[in-house]
Amino acid sequence: MPEDTSRRRPARDGSPRPERGAPDFERDVRRMFTHIAQRYEWFDHLASVGSDLVWRPRALWALDRFRSARPVERILDVGCGTGELTRLAARHYPGSRVVGVDFTAAMLRVAARRTPRGPGSPRIGYGRGTAMRLPFADGSFDLVTNAFLARNLVDLDAALTEMRRVLRAQGTLLVLEITEPSSPTFGAVFHAYFDHVVPWLGAAVDSAGPYRYLPESLRSLPPRPAFLAALERAGFARTEADTQSLGIVTTFLAEAGPPAARSR
Ligand SMILES: C[S@@+](CC[C@H](N)C(=O)[O-])C[C@H]1O[C@@H](n2cnc3c(N)ncnc32)[C@H](O)[C@@H]1O
Repeated sequence: MPEDTSRRRPARDGSPRPERGAPDFERDVRRMFTHIAQRYEWFDHLASVGSDLVWRPRALWALDRFRSARPVERILDVGCGTGELTRLAARHYPGSRVVGVDFTAAMLRVAARRTPRGPGSPRIGYGRGTAMRLPFADGSFDLVTNAFLARNLVDLDAALTEMRRVLRAQGTLLVLEITEPSSPTFGAVFHAYFDHVVPWLGAAVDSAGPYRYLPESLRSLPPRPAFLAALERAGFARTEADTQSLGIVTTFLAEAGPPAARSR
């Protein structure tokens, strides 16, 4: 088969286009999110035809069906970006304290701007940090969430293990991510849309690189059964995959096993 060199071409408008496997992959992911930070939310609403506005709340409802009845008081949202899931989680669990962590300063600046401050506002804090080494002690949280982070990670297994580490035993992990649709016919439409329409929309807003990377990143995520197996390897005892929109997105839910059950 001829070698696919298309991924190596820089975007025509000079915008960052990370390449998985390249030595600078993480740095380029950060540069990419710095580049799109200001338009991230509205572009996502446009590219998902508004669906992302229901995906996050529905993920939290699936979480409520899955998790044990223990109160949720301490929440960590990893790869929080502009804080859409962070703020929703704070409203969903009104008594909680929520921390959003991200390694892109420009995304965090938007998150801080969008988060209400003052008396009666949800208790939300943001900080800079990487999912690969979370700046928190073991067992610090009842709930760890992340949305649309997983396919950008340089090492998924290591990040899941790190998320398990900061959860208390029987705490819950929620991973919301774009996934392969359940039906192959719909999958063909889905890939045609992400491979052709989304990059075209991206090029129209000087972001050809990021929105060429997006369909590439979708193919890097393991299929649902393999993702569930990765959660188990990372020390989660009970797992579940809850699909939405014909499988375009999946909420992976996992309950932290006892520390002794952790493999690493
Ligand atoms: C697609 S955005 C998702 C943002 C947000 N969670 C949402 O629901 O819209 C992915 C975010 O993950 C962050 N990110 C990617 N890799 C990361 C890592 N290794 N550590 C921390 N943040 C990371 C990016 O900076 C970006 O803000």
